[in-house]
Amino acid sequence: MAVVKADAYGHGIEAMAKTAVEAGATYIGVVSLGELKKVRNAGIQAPILLLNYIDKASVMEAIKLDASITVMDEEILIAIEKAASFQAKKAKVHIKIDTGMHRAGCDPDKLLGLAQAILSTRHLELEGLFTHLAEAEDLDVAFTHQQLKVFSDLIDVLRNTGINPPLLHCANSAAIINFPEAHFTMVRPGLITYGLNPFPEGHQ
Ligand SMILES: Cc1ncc(COP(=O)(O)O)c(C=O)c1O
Repeated sequence: MAVVKADAYGHGIEAMAKTAVEAGATYIGVVSLGELKKVRNAGIQAPILLLNYIDKASVMEAIKLDASITVMDEEILIAIEKAASFQAKKAKVHIKIDTGMHRAGCDPDKLLGLAQAILSTRHLELEGLFTHLAEAEDLDVAFTHQQLKVFSDLIDVLRNTGINPPLLHCANSAAIINFPEAHFTMVRPGLITYGLNPFPEGHQ
C-alpha cells in the first residue's frame, strides 16, 4: 500500500498515486474523504483504504467511491451496512487495533466481538486487520516487539475461531526496514516511497 496522505507528503497526491500504481502498488492509503476523492478523480481504480476514522455522514460517499473503510468500534457498522445495502454493494472494512498507543483503535478485548459483528452483516466484508507501530524508528525496540506480539496474538485469536482477514498490515517505512517480521500480508510505506529517511539522524 502506497500511503499518499498529506498531499503525498507534499509531492502531489494525484501524480504520486498514479506513479505508485504504475510502479506496482496494489493498494493506496489516504486519511480523508477529500484525499479519496482526489485519487479517484485522477482516474485511479486501485483499492483505496481510508486509514483514519470517518464520521457517519461520510460513509455513503466513501462507499460510492469504492473505498475500504477503517472501523474501530461497532457504532459505525450500522451506518456502513445501511449505506452499502442502499447501494447494493459489499463494503470492505479493515479493523484498526490499538496495540499499545492508547490513542486510536479497537481495544484488543473487543476485537473478537467487533469481527463477529462485521461477519454477521450482509453487506460488509472483513478484508483487513491492522495496527500502527508508532515507534518503529526508535533505537529501543522493546515497545515495537510488544506491539507486534499483541498483533500476532490477536490474529491467532481470530484464526482460532475461523476468521481470516486476508490483509494483515502494520509496517510503516521504519518497520519495513527494521522489522521483517512485521511485514505480514501488506506493508504501508510513506516516507521511503518518497526517498525520505524514516530514521532520526545518526541512526541507520
Ligand atoms: C496508518 C499509517 N500507516 C502508514 C504510514 C506511513 O508511515 P511512514 O511515512 O513512516 O512510512 C502512516 C503515516 O503517517 C500512517 O498514518
